[in-house]
Amino acid sequence: PGLRVEVVAEIDSTNSELMRRARDGRNAPVLLVAVRQTAGRGRMGRPWQSAQDAGEPPSLTFSLGLPLAPRDWSGLSLAVGASVAESLDPTQAAGVKLKWPNDVWKEERKLAGILIETALLQPDASDRYLVIGIGINVGPREAVGLNTPPAWLKEWRPDITPGEVLREIVVPLVRDVLLFNDRGFVPFAARFAERDVLRGRDVRLSDGTEGHCEGVGWGGELLVRTAAGVQLISSAEVSVRPQ
Ligand code: BTN
Repeated sequence: PGLRVEVVAEIDSTNSELMRRARDGRNAPVLLVAVRQTAGRGRMGRPWQSAQDAGEPPSLTFSLGLPLAPRDWSGLSLAVGASVAESLDPTQAAGVKLKWPNDVWKEERKLAGILIETALLQPDASDRYLVIGIGINVGPREAVGLNTPPAWLKEWRPDITPGEVLREIVVPLVRDVLLFNDRGFVPFAARFAERDVLRGRDVRLSDGTEGHCEGVGWGGELLVRTAAGVQLISSAEVSVRPQ
């Protein structure tokens, strides 16, 4: 209710568009779906590109924008990842997992990426316009521009279309974002832990730190045991060390 849905054939980036609107004071709840992005963006300034077929687009790209004022923003990206992973694979039969902070993985390959951005609505206020951008590899063609070969939904659901994927994801996603707004990360901690691919593995952080991952904390921090004790990591790139 109250969520306007817009579908456009082509745009630079659904996240960029909603951030531009927020800066212009347009902060109504909206779901912006693009059939094609010409300048899709990923985390850490990386591009998000999808191969383009003449026919059905091989990836689903959209952003959900809404004003939000949680007491604490930490863990939001993990909560969003958990919501998306549960919608894509409710019983975990397909092995859809989460790699901290918010990649959706299947068998060590990336199935979906999430880029969260926020715009301040008023100076000094806690409410912000939240833009959650999600790209899901539907297939059958491989998305390009990624470091490692991606996974795609059609591997196990050959007849699924991007529109059907969107319908499966959006209602639970909005519900979960509102739950996060009210209660923060705590209700999501166990849901994330169920699919956490890093817990119990040896990891390496982008700053060179190596240790054993002990899962995530109540604020969504990555817990890494090193020689110096357990560290709470709130932002880093993490890779799994070969066993
Ligand atoms: C990542 O894995 O680094 C995040 C990728 C996020 C891609 C989505 S596609 C829809 C939205 N618009 C963008 O420009 N990026 C996000």
